[in-house]
Amino acid sequence: MPTEQRSHVVSIDQGTTSTRAMVFDRRGRVVAVDQQEHRQIFPRAGWVEHDAMEIWENTRLVVGGALGKANLNATHVAAVGITNQRETTVVWDRSTGRPVHNAIVWQDTRTQAICDELARDGGTDRFKAVTGLPLATYFAGPKARWILDHVDGARERAEAGELLFGTIDTWLLWNLTGGAVDGGIHVTDVTNASRTLLMDLRTLQWDAAAAEAIGVPLAMLPEIRSSSEVYGTCKPGILIDVPVAGILGDQQAATFGQACLDVGTAKNTYGTGNFMLLNTGEEIVASTHGLLTTVCYQLGDARPVYALEGSIAVTGSLVQWLRDNLGLIKDAKEIETLAATVEDNGGAYFVPAFSGLFAPHWRPDARGALVGLTRFVNKGHVARAALEATAFQTREVLEAMNADSGVPLTELRVDGGMVVNETLMQFQADLLGVDVVRPVVAETTALGAAYAAGLAVGYWRSTDEIRENWGEDRRWSPQLDEKERERLFRTWKKAVQRTLDWVD
Ligand code: G3P
Repeated sequence: MPTEQRSHVVSIDQGTTSTRAMVFDRRGRVVAVDQQEHRQIFPRAGWVEHDAMEIWENTRLVVGGALGKANLNATHVAAVGITNQRETTVVWDRSTGRPVHNAIVWQDTRTQAICDELARDGGTDRFKAVTGLPLATYFAGPKARWILDHVDGARERAEAGELLFGTIDTWLLWNLTGGAVDGGIHVTDVTNASRTLLMDLRTLQWDAAAAEAIGVPLAMLPEIRSSSEVYGTCKPGILIDVPVAGILGDQQAATFGQACLDVGTAKNTYGTGNFMLLNTGEEIVASTHGLLTTVCYQLGDARPVYALEGSIAVTGSLVQWLRDNLGLIKDAKEIETLAATVEDNGGAYFVPAFSGLFAPHWRPDARGALVGLTRFVNKGHVARAALEATAFQTREVLEAMNADSGVPLTELRVDGGMVVNETLMQFQADLLGVDVVRPVVAETTALGAAYAAGLAVGYWRSTDEIRENWGEDRRWSPQLDEKERERLFRTWKKAVQRTLDWVD
């Protein structure tokens, strides 16, 4: 069927806690969704793993599920886009298709010793001028090195080209396009590659010197391509013969789906962590305030668009922790009801430095703290402090963004699971002192990857359609007086200092 008659685009959104498939129509509306959670594996303190086979299985299930709910089949699908949790690292055997180790998740801190050792020669900013990133456990390159150091014979096999490296986009693309049986395509896009500590931001190619220093053989790395082009077609299975035509790391996908296409526009996604991205256009802006420089997107042969990013490791996952580790709530949604039982935080501040602190501090040694406690504090206050932690951390990132770009943001587009939370969104506007705006389609991550794929095959003609499809749903304006706003933020900063002082 020609593209014009193919009525929908499918987006695969492979996130930290679950995998979703979404079917979109031409107006960017969600037609059907299917979702599967996968196991979070915590072998030791600070370690977080996923089973990459389980993720691939779930991907097939949810694609079939979403198409079934929409009453569609592969012949109705113009293209498929992939968006993914970034940095999470898979190393697999090219001939069997089996991973040689569980995927090491972006939150995992086991590569601290590798990062420390690398920093001995040139400090933590050793690779920053080339890659835009500080040396931190967050990024994929050192995770691949760890696997090669710890799995018997892996380094030799990687050097011989028998083992392949990929972030989750690459893993899914390789499997969708045939895997071990039928010559899967080994490709990543510029946004995912820009999270490895191995890619040169200017050339958009692997940097041989960084790869050698970090200890990742070039032979195992995928080819880097744009975010919007036909990489290949799906082999027998649910999406047979459908072109895979878009790949964007999930935060870049959300930026694209939020139509932050002009220089100076920004979005903040509230997921397991929070990620604020500011579009800086064709300019590579080096941060001096603890932000990352990253690729925002590249459409086919067009010049790449860059972004400044403030990454916060723990926001929504703090709510999960209160549910799973403390049993304070039974369902994540209950956090808002519990927080609403009190008027304010009662003096309690919760700094969730579970994976150290990311932007703007980049302190892997920081550890979480709940401070300001008195006998007055009850579980309502703890719930409120947990929600507020998301807003306070976002304020820290926004300040860094304003300082780096020199132009204060006037409003912030928001998306992600937590933006249904009225208490949090109002507090966020209060604390930032700017309007917070939620779009009609809050599923901006999946939508962004759908747009990238649909643009590549002509399903959507230009980015103008993305702008036209974006609509405002809800706006929160600041209501708190400035003195109180600054007092709260000052106290938060004191609480953060406690977590930084924790380790000698
Ligand atoms: O960099 C990590 C980020 O991509 C994870 O996103 O939505 O899976 O928490 P999410």
